[in-house]
Amino acid sequence: MTATTLTVALDERSYPIHIGQGLLSSFDLATVVTGPAALIVTNDIVAPLYLSRVTALLPDRDLQQVILKDGEQHKTLQAVAGILDALANARAGRDTTVIALGGGVVGDIAGFAAACYMRGVPFIQVPTTLLAQVDSSVGGKTGVNHPRGKNLIGAFHQPRLVLIDTETLSTLPDRELSAGLAEVIKHAAIADGEFFHWLEANVDSLLKRNADALGYAIRRCCEIKAAVVAEDERESGKRALLNFGHTFGHAIENSLGYGEWLHGEAVAAGMVMAAELSELPGDARQRLHNLIERAGLPTEPPPVAADKLRAAIGIDKKIIGKRLRFILLRELGEAFIDDNISEDRLSRILDHAKP
Ligand code: NAD
Ligand code: GLY
Repeated sequence: MTATTLTVALDERSYPIHIGQGLLSSFDLATVVTGPAALIVTNDIVAPLYLSRVTALLPDRDLQQVILKDGEQHKTLQAVAGILDALANARAGRDTTVIALGGGVVGDIAGFAAACYMRGVPFIQVPTTLLAQVDSSVGGKTGVNHPRGKNLIGAFHQPRLVLIDTETLSTLPDRELSAGLAEVIKHAAIADGEFFHWLEANVDSLLKRNADALGYAIRRCCEIKAAVVAEDERESGKRALLNFGHTFGHAIENSLGYGEWLHGEAVAAGMVMAAELSELPGDARQRLHNLIERAGLPTEPPPVAADKLRAAIGIDKKIIGKRLRFILLRELGEAFIDDNISEDRLSRILDHAKP
């Protein structure tokens, strides 16, 4: 694949997304880390694989590290507090850059710590999972979970740079690759019917980690997400479309306990549920179901009591007033917000979830 650079256009906070193979061996990171110091946040799985490559890119900087425990169950305020302690103990100044090296969990935690420390220090995303490369590293949503809800605590804090080395996907477990494909399918389903068609033709190549196929899918997702974020950074409108499948998905994650199902798996089942709520023409619902299945993802929710899922949906952040708001599909490639879903319609979908 050829290296590409995209831009997230946010006026003076605009930033590049560099996508390429082997960027962790060649990128001139020192030009972006402008201050004398940086704190690299990663976890105990990713550190042995890639930490030395990032430190080698910054030979002249004062570098600190925080190694988090791996897993969604550790995406907590406690993890953020550990990073803030490290920054404070190192007497880090406002010109210290926080670098997130890892998947979406590390990126969300480190980004939130960067947003909080001294009311905001520079932040760089180096995503190493497919999910993080196609979604979570772009757009500046940062935060952690609360026992009452997924990502309930957080801040918008845009990175200065997103550095995507697609070679890091070579060590990603198959289950995690599939979880990333859920967000890839989501981008196509909400915004690009042709890309959806391309995915139907290329999902097997993606599962085999064909470099060109992965490079194209990552680029197309980043283009879609960058355009949405540029138009609606703070989710006052269109950005909500990126949450297709997430209302059900977050409820699944919350009901099962974080870490039981992967985020991408929960979103996959959530997209099928949301497609059932949508009145899709022709075979569109079946095509979405089939693509999700072929990507190695669940197409129905786990056997959790419908009441538990309903309660989890009840505190979803996407609720405005008392009405339930869902992202539905008009067709494959076009999504819309429906804030008038009746309890009856919802119950039909949730009843699938009865144990
Ligand atoms: P993750 O961060 O837990 O990573 C998945 C697993 O892969 C972990 O065990 C991790 O240690 C390991 N890993 C990471 N890179 C690896 C590599 N190159 N080789 C081998 N193992 C590697 O999960 P994820 O799917 O990347 O991210 C999910 C999180 O992202 C969720 O918390 C979700 O809420 C969040 N998210 C955020 C946004 C956003 O806009 N901020 C968008 C989507 C998802
Ligand atoms: N993943 C949804 C968003 O970034 O808005």
